[in-house]
Amino acid sequence: MRPADILERHRQLYARPRSLADWTRPDVVRAGLAPLEAELADHLTPPGRLLLLGVGGGREAIALARRGFAVTGVDFAPALAAAAARTAQEAGIAITVEVREVTGLRPPASRFDAVWFSGTLYAALPSRALRVGLLRRLAASLRPGGGLVCQVHCDPSTAPRPWELRLRRAVARCTGGYTALQPGDMMPAGGEFHHYFQSPEELRAEFAAAGLQVRRRVAGDARRPTGILLARRGPQGPG
Ligand SMILES: C[S@@+](CC[C@H](N)C(=O)[O-])C[C@H]1O[C@@H](n2cnc3c(N)ncnc32)[C@H](O)[C@@H]1O
Repeated sequence: MRPADILERHRQLYARPRSLADWTRPDVVRAGLAPLEAELADHLTPPGRLLLLGVGGGREAIALARRGFAVTGVDFAPALAAAAARTAQEAGIAITVEVREVTGLRPPASRFDAVWFSGTLYAALPSRALRVGLLRRLAASLRPGGGLVCQVHCDPSTAPRPWELRLRRAVARCTGGYTALQPGDMMPAGGEFHHYFQSPEELRAEFAAAGLQVRRRVAGDARRPTGILLARRGPQGPG
């Protein structure tokens, strides 16, 4: 199984009617930004163009548009993207929606003032190489001073022992699973891939590889070990 196969599996999971129902529930969409998301959004300065990856039913898109951003939302689930556009229109809010898989994005240089990864979508992208490649292109699409927001889980307890990693790779080889597993990669049967960062240093290094600096990190608590980042492109640009 290659990263492309994992992304295809994710696409199929989100194309299910159950997923459409979950992410378009009026109470979910109306809830707007969660407190941590709102805290991060406070670091972005509207007005400006904001690229939202994983628009879903439009929950964050509508909230961010209300804050003054011109939102372009991207999602690979056509029904979810359509629902986001419809719900925004019904609320009298203009957003642009595109049906795309995010790792294929190549946005024009200096196009956006902000890039926003929905939830933990960033960590659901299989392989560091794929994540860093996308981050580099997104960083180049930011105007100087622009910000990139994403949320990840930092959980060192997910570190496998070397023998465990070797065993999981061997099982993956025999069962047609994902053989490029890295420490912190989780592939629950039938579920989504997720990369758990092992430390703030790993996080910083991944962003640095794309020329982005972590400027704000709001660590989750012990029960919800969610690290939340704000990486901001400097005036010199990435690199
Ligand atoms: C957990 S849902 C969140 C939906 C919405 N943003 C919210 O928080 O209410 C993740 C969304 O990202 C989309 N998504 C996941 N992986 C994606 C990918 N690789 N490319 C494009 N969209 C993706 C899914 O279709 C889904 O709409």
